[in-house]
Order: sequence, then structure tokens, then C-alpha cells
Amino acid sequence: MDKEVILTGLRANNDLHIGHIFGALQPMVDMAVHHAGKYQINLFVPDLHSFTTPIDHSKLQDGIMNNLRIFVAAGLPLDNPDIHIYRQSYIPAHSELTWILDCFTGFGEMSRMTQFKDKSTKLGDDRISVGLFNYPVLMAADILLYGASYVPVGDDQTQHLEFTRDIAERMSAKFGELFVMPKSVKEQHEFFGKDQGLRIRDLMDPTKKMSKSDETGKGVIFLSDTPEAARKKIMSAATDSLENVQYDYSQQPGISNLLDIYKLLGGKPDEFIGQSQYGPLKAAVADKAASFLEEFQGKMKTIDDHQILQKLKVSEAEMTKQAGETLYKVQQAVGLRA
Ligand code: TYM
Repeated sequence: MDKEVILTGLRANNDLHIGHIFGALQPMVDMAVHHAGKYQINLFVPDLHSFTTPIDHSKLQDGIMNNLRIFVAAGLPLDNPDIHIYRQSYIPAHSELTWILDCFTGFGEMSRMTQFKDKSTKLGDDRISVGLFNYPVLMAADILLYGASYVPVGDDQTQHLEFTRDIAERMSAKFGELFVMPKSVKEQHEFFGKDQGLRIRDLMDPTKKMSKSDETGKGVIFLSDTPEAARKKIMSAATDSLENVQYDYSQQPGISNLLDIYKLLGGKPDEFIGQSQYGPLKAAVADKAASFLEEFQGKMKTIDDHQILQKLKVSEAEMTKQAGETLYKVQQAVGLRA
């Protein structure tokens, strides 16, 4: 780990949507395309994170492979030795470090995690797993094992990133320097050229984030949606009755979300500011989204699985080595190794 590490993961238990692409994958691919050489790039599938809530396990293998294809279709180059793709469960150090970190993590601090509170209220008490509860500890292990400095994530993961810094600091205070401290959330945003973590909203209910757990799917643009279906979803997006296109999330979250999506898809939202009708903005976003999906799905068809499998083999061997070195340091610190 001679170079600074940029790392992120995208779970594979469902269809990915444009929130995943713009919140995490695109910043990562941009870094990989423009800065591999200066940085080590780790883009992985956190497969152990996939069943903290119930899933159809017979679909997990396909989901994992699909995520890897999506990484490549989004533009991740595989022929660069500084870029690594891997499956979390193939590197046992993730689980092993999690257990050690678990023992230094407070029940109270995990109970306060917003994502845990949100997800657990949706499930019945009996269905809340301990895995869902200590999910952020596994995420911290994912980051600390490779000494990652930068972790592009959407706004919903910010609290987990802060916990990662807390546990790193706590361990180092007790045992001496063990981990590279990930940069603060503010520094992360500066690095990725944003002023805050991204939060693409649901098209039907723009007060909540676009999420793959949305039951109807009407407010979510999935990467597998046909361009026509995406167009329809955008044309029916909820807006407001103010008849004025403005960027203002408190008064006009639906319109602001559309402006953000338009910008992320390469449009120039300024052209619509001040217009009294919402139809032209919606039509422009729908056009951009439809051509984005067409191009993306075209690329998905050309992906060579063999090339992905070859790259996984090389990356997973290298990551086992890197993660193993960090784990060994921690095992020594806590007295498990001489
Ligand atoms: P996951 O798989 O739920 O989502 C992957 C990434 O997509 C971002 N994202 C969004 N960004 C903007 N707007 C949205 N509507 C939106 N929805 C999702 C998420 O913030 C995330 O960055 N715990 C992580 C996976 C993970 C991880 C890690 C990430 C496991 N270990 C280590 C970074 C580092 C998660 O569940 O993301």
C-alpha cells in the first residue's frame, strides 16, 4: 500500500439505480481513469453485506457478477495494475477484523446509526439481524484493512464513515498507530470536488432518497429499466404547484432533484431556472436519462466475463496479501499473535 488508497463498495442484492452510479461509482471510475498511477483504486462487491436484511440467496451469485459488469460498463479500466476489483467474502481478513473491532465497539453507538434505525423499523423485531446491527463495523474493516484515505459514498453512508474514523482512533489510542486514518468527511468532499455527499431523491417522494428497497419502483431509475420506462417515470415525477423552476430543496425538492439529475447526466440546468412550466425540464431530463440508459445497456452487452474473472483472481490474491498485513498488525496488538 505505497500509494494512497481510494476505495468503495456497492452491494449486489438488487438492481442498481442512478443514485448508486452518481453517488459512488462515477466518482470512483473518474479517479480510476484520471489518477490510477498516483492512487491505488479498490472497487469491491461487499457480498457479506448483502444479507443483513432478508434476500433471495439463489440470486446472489448473479447479482455479484452483474455488479462487476456494471463497474466495467461504467468505464472502470481493468488493465491497470493499480486498479483492483474483488469480492469481500474471498478475503477472510474482512470477517476476522470485524470480530476484533466488534469487541471495541459500543452497543450504544451502533444503536444510534440512522440506517440501522430506519431499516429496523421497517422489519419486525424478530427479523432484525445482529448482522444488520453491526454492519458499520464490517464496513469499517473494509476500509481500514487497506488503509483507504478516500471513500466516495452517498450521503446515507456518511455516518458509517465517521464511525470508521472513530474506531480507528480508538484502536490507535489504545494500541498505538494501527491504521491509516481515512480523511474527514469534509476533506473527502473537497477531494471529490463536491460540497456534500450526494443524495438522489425518489421521483415520487422527493423527501426520501432514491432507494432499491422502494416497493413500487416508480420513483427509481434502475440501470435495467428500458429507456421508455425511465422516460415515463421521469415524466410522472412529483413536483409542486409553485410554477417556478428553482433550486430549493426545502420548498421544491422534486424540481431540485430533477435539476440535479439533469446536471449529473451532463445537462445544463441553468437553462431552465425561472421557467414557469415544468414539462420542458422533465422532457429534457427524460431524454438524457433515456440516452444514458441506452448507451449503458449497450456497453453491458459487450462485457467479457472472462476478463473480469481473470482480473478478480489477480486482485483477490493481492488484496489477501494487503489485508493480511493489516490484520496481522492488529492481531499482534491485541495479543492474538506473538
Ligand atoms: P449501497 O450498496 O447501499 O450503495 C452503494 C453506494 O451508492 C450510494 N447511494 C446513493 N448515492 C446518492 N443517492 C442515492 N439515492 C443513493 N443510493 C445509494 C451509497 O451511499 C453508496 O455509496 N455500506 C455500503 C456498501 C459498503 C461500503 C463499504 C462502501 C460496504 N463496505 C466500504 C464504502 C466502503 C452500502 O450499503 O452501499
